[in-house]
Amino acid sequence: MKVTAFVGSARKKHTYYAVERFMHTLQSLGNIEYEIVSLSDCRLNICKGCKQCLDRGEERCSLKDDRDLLIEKMNHSDGVVFASPNYSFNVSGFMKIFLDRLGYIFHRPRYFGKTFTGIVVEGIYGGKKIMEYFDFIGKGLGFNVVNSCCLNSLEPMTEKDQKKFNSIIDRQSKKFYRELVKKSYPVPGFFDLMVFRMARTSIGLTLDESWRDYTYYRENGWFKSGYYYPAPLNPVKKLTGIFFDLLFTRIYGKKASGKQVKPA
Ligand SMILES: Cc1cc2nc3c(=O)[nH]c(=O)nc-3n(C[C@H](O)[C@H](O)[C@H](O)COP(=O)(O)O)c2cc1C
Repeated sequence: MKVTAFVGSARKKHTYYAVERFMHTLQSLGNIEYEIVSLSDCRLNICKGCKQCLDRGEERCSLKDDRDLLIEKMNHSDGVVFASPNYSFNVSGFMKIFLDRLGYIFHRPRYFGKTFTGIVVEGIYGGKKIMEYFDFIGKGLGFNVVNSCCLNSLEPMTEKDQKKFNSIIDRQSKKFYRELVKKSYPVPGFFDLMVFRMARTSIGLTLDESWRDYTYYRENGWFKSGYYYPAPLNPVKKLTGIFFDLLFTRIYGKKASGKQVKPA
């Protein structure tokens, strides 16, 4: 199995070390091939906000850099890790630039059955929100998410600090491995079901063949399916799904029939 990590620190210190240790632990558990990508070594330009990737297709992006190479690495991985230091209570700039360039995948998720986790490294405070952010990001891309972890690297680090750091990352790696080998397609919860039905109803009613989200949903059969992938929905979930379809048809039907204004 292949696992790829994307690291958002420009120096190879605590975050990089955590990811290396994570991968070595994974390798001690099974047959794992891994790659660690330092985003600071990649050519990634800042999104200009033209929205061509979102609206008309990712190939329309005017920025010619390593974006597609990095996405190819994700496509060919069974597991993916995003690791970032806490900078000013958020992910690092390198990580944020990368996430913005993946923006269109949140509209058109694809990594179902694959495993994701986030690793946050911080000095003092703020990592909890970043962990939640990574979990949300992973889910949005379609992954099965192993809740992210946060490690403390406040310097000078004592032996005890380092031991704790190592023990958290080892535990995270073991949890990740258990999910990775399952390759599961979990039954969606009510919230997941709602998000799927809302997205497909709004896209179906307000967009047409000239929009990439529309063609992506059509090509994947999502206008007719119960969920992104074949998942057994019990009678309550089936009924709830119908309720969401009706509710969002009402909401987005009104929007679809409204008079459109020209953008300012
Ligand atoms: C610009 C900058 C901002 C930082 N902001 C925070 C912060 O808001 N909260 C925190 O706990 N640590 C903060 N730190 C500390 C880093 O998260 C910590 O040093 C971490 O180990 C850096 O990762 P690295 O060792 O992989 O480079 C900041 C560090 C830098 C350089």
